[in-house]
Parts: sequence; C-alpha cells; structure tokens
Amino acid sequence: MIIAVDGPTASGKGTIAKALAHHFGLPHLDTGLLYRAVGRQCFLDGGDPDDPVDALAACAFPEGLLEDPELRSEASGGLASRVSIHPTVRKALYERQRTFATQPAGAVLDGRDIGTVIAPEAQAKLFVVASVEARAQRRFLEMHAQGRDISLEAITADLAARDERDRGRKDAPLVAAADALVIDTSDLKREEAIAAAIAAVDALRVT
Ligand code: DC
Repeated sequence: MIIAVDGPTASGKGTIAKALAHHFGLPHLDTGLLYRAVGRQCFLDGGDPDDPVDALAACAFPEGLLEDPELRSEASGGLASRVSIHPTVRKALYERQRTFATQPAGAVLDGRDIGTVIAPEAQAKLFVVASVEARAQRRFLEMHAQGRDISLEAITADLAARDERDRGRKDAPLVAAADALVIDTSDLKREEAIAAAIAAVDALRVT
C-alpha cells in the first residue's frame, strides 16, 4: 500500500505521515528533507538557489547531509522552497522518491506532489491543511520551545510567502489530487488529527 500525504508547511502532515507509517508498519520518507538538503547544499556551495544551474549542482549533496539538524531550520525551509521551483531539480529527485514509493513493502511519503506526481496510483491520498493562523501559532510555539526569539508576525509572513511560492510554481504546484481526502487540522489536537488520518486510510483501503 502506498499512502501519499501532501499539504503546506506546518499543516501537521509530517506528524500524520510518521504516525501512519508506525500504525500500518510501513517505511516513511519525508520528501521535504530532500529539497531542504538541496537548498542547504546550494547555500554551502555559495550558490544562488534561484539559479537553476546552481540548484541542480546541489542535488549531488552527500547522504550525510540528510542527518544535519540545520535542515529543520526555517532558513533551510526557505531555501528548499526556492530550489524546488526548478523543474530540473524536481526531475533529479524524482527517481529516488519513486523508488521509495514502489518498494514491495509499501510506503508512506509526505510532501507537496506525492499524490499528483510521485505516486498518482497511491491507494490512499491525504491532503492536510490548516489555517495560516493555526500553522503560524504552532510554529511559534515550536520555535519558542527551542529558545528562538521570533515574532508571530515574522512567522506568519514567512509561511504566507512559502505557501504562495509552493502553490504558484508551474511545475508540480502544491494542489490536492482530485481523489485526495482533505483533513483540516486547524481545530484538531495532535492525537485527533492522527486518529482522523488513520480512519481515513482505513476507509479508503476498503473502497
Ligand atoms: O515539507 P517541508 O516544509 O520540509 O518542505 C520544504 C520545501 O520543499 C517546501 O516549501 C517546498 C519543497 N517541497 C517540494 O517542492 N516538494 C515536496 N514533495 C516536498 C517539499
């Protein structure tokens, strides 16, 4: 079984994907991490993330970079969003994601284009959304728990900019697949969102 979990930044899709993988005993790939590694490598190379040639060169990042905690930072997320615009970058990362999705054991992948491009044949497609306010508030609490002093306004502005870039790009924009089930986590607690996702996958599997 392939489970595709797509949605915008801080919607809760990562938490949901991890929990689904655990519940159904499937391997999980956070595809955003691949784009973050490309963005980070481009930065380390002194390249320009908006330049397709520099961004493509950064796709040859060393495997060890995926373990770098810096990939989780807002800065890496912003760089990832910029390099992910280039069709050549998306093509360079396609095979790795496709291979993971089609392994015999099945898989859970989370990202932006799993249900539309990487695994359109997925048996279960979830599109996880939440209001900008709810997502900004979550990010704000996360950052402050890490001791980072950043305002709610700055986080909201950054999220809105990232949403616009991810939705507006020509190649594989962030959009729900026609057969995806939308889960709005704005008013859900973590455990409620996970329970809703498990119930949705169970329902999709039997139909
Ligand atoms: O899910 P995330 O915040 O780690 O993703 C970071 C950026 O990577 C996101 O803004 C857009 C890009 N991305 C993408 O274009 N396609 C994916 N499947 C996953 C992420």
